[in-house]
Amino acid sequence: MLEGKLVRLRAPERGDLPVFVRWINDPEVTEFLQFEPPMSIEDEEIWFQHMVQSKDRTFAIETKDGRLIGNIGLMGLDLRNRKTEVGIMIGEKDMWSQGYGSDAMLVLLRYLFEEMNINRVGLYADVSNHRALRSYEKCGFSREGVVRQYRFKDGRYLDSVQMSMLQEEWMSSRP
Ligand SMILES: CC(C)(COP(=O)(O)OP(=O)(O)OC[C@H]1O[C@@H](n2cnc3c(N)ncnc32)[C@H](O)[C@@H]1OP(=O)(O)O)[C@@H](O)C(=O)NCCC(=O)NCCS
Repeated sequence: MLEGKLVRLRAPERGDLPVFVRWINDPEVTEFLQFEPPMSIEDEEIWFQHMVQSKDRTFAIETKDGRLIGNIGLMGLDLRNRKTEVGIMIGEKDMWSQGYGSDAMLVLLRYLFEEMNINRVGLYADVSNHRALRSYEKCGFSREGVVRQYRFKDGRYLDSVQMSMLQEEWMSSRP
């Protein structure tokens, strides 16, 4: 269990999957995410089986009183170059913009930089995902540039902001 100020990160359990599926099938939650809904419990079971066997771990995010509110995970962990990308979803919309996502990201960053000795953590966010961009900047991520036409959604290509944080930056300014 990884503890933050507002949240805990724990291993996801099979019993969490119906909640994950509810979030993934909510277009408001996935507006800025690369999912191909509709997704079923069976689809999510397949993802879960891959995830538990993969280096790319996902953590469930829960509040200190045990409410499951989201998940956060690694994508493309590369131990040779000591880097990874990360992704996050606070699926419970009533919990947006209250600091939970940033706290979860800080917990994951501490784990990656201080426990796993990762050197670079990267991510992408749509240029119009202002809440996510603000949250990542609060956590200490830097904007590296705009990646043009990074993904295709609703009949058009969308630009993304590429962001990263380095281990030396974390160590010199860690919360
Ligand atoms: C993105 C996400 C993880 C952020 O987590 P969160 O708990 O909602 O965010 P936080 O409260 O930690 O930080 C959000 C910040 O953005 C601000 N914000 C919210 N809406 C904003 C907007 N439209 N424009 C600018 N800033 C905004 C908030 O006020 C807050 O800043 P503050 O603390 O200085 O007031 C979460 O909203 C989420 O999962 N959204 C849906 C899925 C998603 O977009 N995932 C990320 C894909 S890259």
